[in-house]
Formats: sequence, structure tokens, C-alpha cells
Amino acid sequence: MKFFVDTADVTEIRELAATGLLDGVTTNPSLILKANRPFKEIIAEICEVVDGPVSAEVASTDYDDMLREGRSLAKIAPNVTVKVPLTWDGLRVCKTLSDEGTMVNVTLCFSAAQALLAAKAGASFISPFIGRLDDTGIDGMELIQDIRTIYDNYPELPTEILAASIRNANHVKASALAGADVATIPPSVIKSLVKHPLTDKGLEQFVADWAKTGQSID
Ligand code: E4P
Repeated sequence: MKFFVDTADVTEIRELAATGLLDGVTTNPSLILKANRPFKEIIAEICEVVDGPVSAEVASTDYDDMLREGRSLAKIAPNVTVKVPLTWDGLRVCKTLSDEGTMVNVTLCFSAAQALLAAKAGASFISPFIGRLDDTGIDGMELIQDIRTIYDNYPELPTEILAASIRNANHVKASALAGADVATIPPSVIKSLVKHPLTDKGLEQFVADWAKTGQSID
């Protein structure tokens, strides 16, 4: 499973990219608001740091304006993935941009039927929002499983499942078990994945015992 980071904070992206574990980045208008810098400048900077897909979301909601914005964003760098909402106009933009060779991420997906539409529109990625579904009392992970089954039934569909709205380490594990192609994860959750109390305890013991040997490896 590929790891994307869900942030517009370039400092955090640089730090995670240095691990070699980062395959891409997703942003959204709320994350851009938080970053409080010019949108296109942020996307250009991220595309210099990360080779993989970098999602940049359109701001308009009608076909003509979304298409104009999407084309403008796609010009920033070849790895820009234009993010469009799961609406009829968004799907039309997805089809047009995909036919032009631009990667498109269809966002705000909350049902398997929506995911099927996005795939038929040629989306490179579909973003089912796990956490936001969980918030309403519906198991978000079931949606990932359903989309996996549908996409596997039709291998000609070009779309990767990008598990989004991930809130914790368990969401990452469950997404991988369900066969999501990608998970986009907040930086704090990525950092939490390495943690286990028994790892800390075991390492403390090994360090202490090694010191007692009086040896050096160099
Ligand atoms: C995905 O691309 C979205 O930016 C993101 O995962 C939304 O997460 P949230 O529900 O925590 O805002």
C-alpha cells in the first residue's frame, strides 16, 4: 500500500519525504487555509520535494470553472493530480482532464456507487472518506471493502482506491487489510505508526545490556 501524507505543511512533507517512505501528497482547501500561504506556491514547492502524485483541489463547483482551474493547476508540475468533488460536474471534469492525460483524484466519496461513477469517468484515484463516515455511525471500512470488490470485478477500471479521512493507526491497518491501494494519512498518524511500548522497552534493555559488554562495533 502506498503512503500519501494529507497536509499542506511543506516542512512536515520535507521531514517525511526524507524517510523515503512517502509516495505522494494530498491537500484540500481546509489544509491550504491552515497553511496560510499562496496555493499555487505551496503546490509547486511540494512537487519539488515529492516525485509522486500531489493532489491539488479545484475551488469552483461548476464544470467550466473547475475545468479552467484544473488545467491551470495541472500546468504547475507533471505530478499534480487535480482533485474534483464527486458531483456530476466534477465527474465531467474528471473525464475531460483524464482524457487530456491529467491525473484526477475524485474526492468526498461516501458510497460504492459514487466510486463506480468516478472509475467510469477515468479517475486515477477515488477518495472514500473513512473517518467522516465513522463519525456518522457508519463503518467507513466497509466502504473500502465494497469498492475493492467492485473494482476487482472490473479490472479494466483505471482507478486506485485512496483511503482518506484517516484518523488513527487502526484505520491504516484496516485499509491495508481491505486492499486499499493508497492511504492518505495526517503527519501525526504516520509518525504514530512506529510506536509500540514493547519496542521502547526492548530497546532500552538492549542498549543497557550492550553497554555492559564494554564492546564497540566500529
Ligand atoms: C483527503 O484527500 C482529504 O484531504 C482528507 O483525508 C480529509 O480528512 P478529514 O476528514 O480528516 O478532514
